Amino acid sequence: KKTVADIELKGKKVLMRADFNVPLDENGKITDETRIVAALPTISYILDHGAALILMSHLGRPNNKPDPQYSLAPVAAKLSELLKKKVIFNDDPVVTGSITVAAASTLKPGDVLLLQNTRFRPEETKNDLGFARELADLGDIFVNDAFGTAHRAHASTVGIAEILPGVSGFLIQKELDFMGKALEAPARPFVAILGGSKVSDKIGVINNLLEKVDTLIIGGGMAYTFLKAQGYGVGKSLLEEDKIDLAKELMAKAKSKGVQLLLPVDVVAAETFAADSPHKIVDVTTIPPESMGLDIGPVTSATFIKAILAAKTVIWNGPMGVFEMPAFAKGTEAVAKAMSESDAVTIIGGGDSAAAVKILGYEDGMSHISTGGGASLEFLEGKKLPGIEILQDK
Ligand code: 3PG
Repeated sequence: KKTVADIELKGKKVLMRADFNVPLDENGKITDETRIVAALPTISYILDHGAALILMSHLGRPNNKPDPQYSLAPVAAKLSELLKKKVIFNDDPVVTGSITVAAASTLKPGDVLLLQNTRFRPEETKNDLGFARELADLGDIFVNDAFGTAHRAHASTVGIAEILPGVSGFLIQKELDFMGKALEAPARPFVAILGGSKVSDKIGVINNLLEKVDTLIIGGGMAYTFLKAQGYGVGKSLLEEDKIDLAKELMAKAKSKGVQLLLPVDVVAAETFAADSPHKIVDVTTIPPESMGLDIGPVTSATFIKAILAAKTVIWNGPMGVFEMPAFAKGTEAVAKAMSESDAVTIIGGGDSAAAVKILGYEDGMSHISTGGGASLEFLEGKKLPGIEILQDK
């Protein structure tokens, strides 16, 4: 894709779509600024090259109307702190109202204006061209750096790029470089680790990765449906009854493709879903009927670690257990630690696993931590992301 480095910026007003959909606590304080920090290289580049910048983002899922709870005001403040410069923010409930049009028209090179939450307008998620036109009229050039929102065809991601030809920012470029390369031309062995609670969320990813990887590791809540498919009793563990046949098919597919499939051989079984629940390590052949597996066990961890350390490319999506509870975080931590110590290209495919890596303190050891949640999953499924497809090619 063409990037912001391929175009003339001097004297222009650049409309940049970022994904500033950051988590806020009950006082409206940002609890993880990663997505804002990740947009800084593109923001600084644009400002350093003589352009004025108009930033757009959504935040959360307001019900298609203005809602102070979802105001981008905290993002404006954080951005101003990080950039060490004023960020103009008008709290305009219409997003493109007269106050915003006036502010945009007087911007000078180096100035930054952040629009209010694009989802305060019902037209945003409908990819309405009228709203896209209102946004486009504020500036001259469109830059999309919102990787996390690239799977949404909305007015501020796709509609606007039909009006103003768009280029990608450096974050989108980085995400494509790491994840795209891993899927297209990985250094081998290529190992994928999938976890999280539901098989149903990961069917597309498993199917696509089975075409590409040498080893597929499955842990987390979704593993129990596979263990059941292997004929084991899983007690009260998470189980998707209606996906047992599918799990069998996926295991057969792995076999036919020559993909090594690693499933848990032991688990940490607890009596209740609680941080202080009594728990013990059991073999998968003897999960007590009254208990539930909440983490992979130590023998499983050791097997997974061995595969990770032998790999040249590792992609991970979804925790191995209930890592938010220390008693059930060991498996997730073992995977994070092994990845951080490996010389392989290590990619965290966003969402919960990105959160786990940060909470457990292994961020620095990874080659790339994706800023996408749903977008990374769809990318790993091999789907085309509309927000990226519409951007200009080189
Ligand atoms: C995300 O956090 O995955 C993106 O910002 C997209 O948000 P959405 O799922 O509300 O569209």
